[in-house]
Amino acid sequence: MSWVDVGALAELRFQPGAPVKLDGHWIALFRQGDELLAIDNNCPHASAPLCDGTVLGGKVICFLHCWEFDLRTGACDVGAQWNLRTYPVRIDGDRVLVDWPGPPLPAPKHR
Ligand code: FES
Repeated sequence: MSWVDVGALAELRFQPGAPVKLDGHWIALFRQGDELLAIDNNCPHASAPLCDGTVLGGKVICFLHCWEFDLRTGACDVGAQWNLRTYPVRIDGDRVLVDWPGPPLPAPKHR
């Protein structure tokens, strides 16, 4: 586990997701009841920020073309090749910590 402090809970800007940049990679934190869930922020379809999407039934719905992603698993309703990474989150006092494995490997280039 590699817990990274991403800020004070009171200072995160939920819109409904709160975007956070780690090693140049954007993730988004979402409130689900008393929990915080973290998922990659960029939609794999056309890179819209999922923090600006709509949260419904444990999923975030991208505002551009309505692809849906499960906030707990990162599963994409369009196909598993579009699944996103998710990250464990914990709160320590007023601080929010994300278990950050490092940025994803770059996608292979197509010729
Ligand atoms: S950019 Fe997210 S569904 Fe198209």
